Amino acid sequence: MNNSYPTNLSPVFQQAEDLKKQFSSDLAQAASDDLPQLKIKYLGRNGLITSLFNELGNATREEKPKLGKLLNELKNELSQTLETMQKTKVPGTNTASYDVTLPGRTHETGTLHPLTTVLQEICVFFENMGFTVAEGPDIESEYNNFTALNILNNHPARDMHDTFYLDSGGLLRTHTSPVQIRVMQNGKPPFRVIAPGKVYRCDSDLRHSPMFHQVEGFCVGEGIHFGHLKYLLKLFAKKIFGESVKLRFRPSFFPFTEPSAEVDISCVICRGKGCRTCSNSGWIEILGAGMIHPNVLHNVRLDPEHFSGYAFGMGVERIAMLKYGIGDIRLFFENNHDFLVQFK
Ligand code: PHE
Repeated sequence: MNNSYPTNLSPVFQQAEDLKKQFSSDLAQAASDDLPQLKIKYLGRNGLITSLFNELGNATREEKPKLGKLLNELKNELSQTLETMQKTKVPGTNTASYDVTLPGRTHETGTLHPLTTVLQEICVFFENMGFTVAEGPDIESEYNNFTALNILNNHPARDMHDTFYLDSGGLLRTHTSPVQIRVMQNGKPPFRVIAPGKVYRCDSDLRHSPMFHQVEGFCVGEGIHFGHLKYLLKLFAKKIFGESVKLRFRPSFFPFTEPSAEVDISCVICRGKGCRTCSNSGWIEILGAGMIHPNVLHNVRLDPEHFSGYAFGMGVERIAMLKYGIGDIRLFFENNHDFLVQFK
């Protein structure tokens, strides 16, 4: 229904509309004991509606039938409303009655995403070991992501299949290692830094997501050696996977570290006996690491004769999957409520 009437209609139309509003506001404030009073005020013999009916005589001949209809409707509406209110109002209150046997409303609290929890756990461990947190941008230059890290032009990691290149000439970083370059370019050793963040690779299946998270870590100074790295990572694995976990360093290759290693933990599912998760080997790879390549130090103007350092990089999803026994990486990104509430 319209809220206001054209001014060429007689004012009683507008009065009817105002009356309706007044009634609603009276009703909202009324306690159940007030309802009979309201009925008299509006519908009684000298009530407000009746006085509007008296105005009918002043209306023009065309208006009369319309106005009569309107007022009758208004009268019915008001008396019906009053009747239902009378039935449902609880004496002494001004709210509708309620069913005390209905279950109450629960207030569900949210929970941290499992990736957030694991990421925090990782960061807290390294911060306790004296590392500071650094971050770099998701959009990187080819130089920081590859060249400065000794990944030459013909290296397969630069292949279009792995890297999302941008029209602007940059790329989405494929690992957090470019943060090593950024930090070392802008500071002075010693460095003891971790760099958590998102990374991107054109890859998607049960174990790969085109966007995932890594934590990079590195330490550069005088006399830093592989033993420091081994000790740190051993403590780290025990912290995340429990005291009984075993560590294995397997020779590997990364262009930016020499020597390089992949680090395995004893399978957390079968405890090393052999199962599907560990492909019956009893071991699961959790990170890549090594001593920072002299070329990389050279690229950030550090003298490899004077400084040495280690670096490592791990996938946060992978660690969370192992820790919680999650078989499909995509579960992290679907925001399925049933999945997420399990991490309360
Ligand atoms: N950047 C490597 C990767 O994404 C991991 C790594 C980091 C390896 C640092 C060695 C040293 O796979």
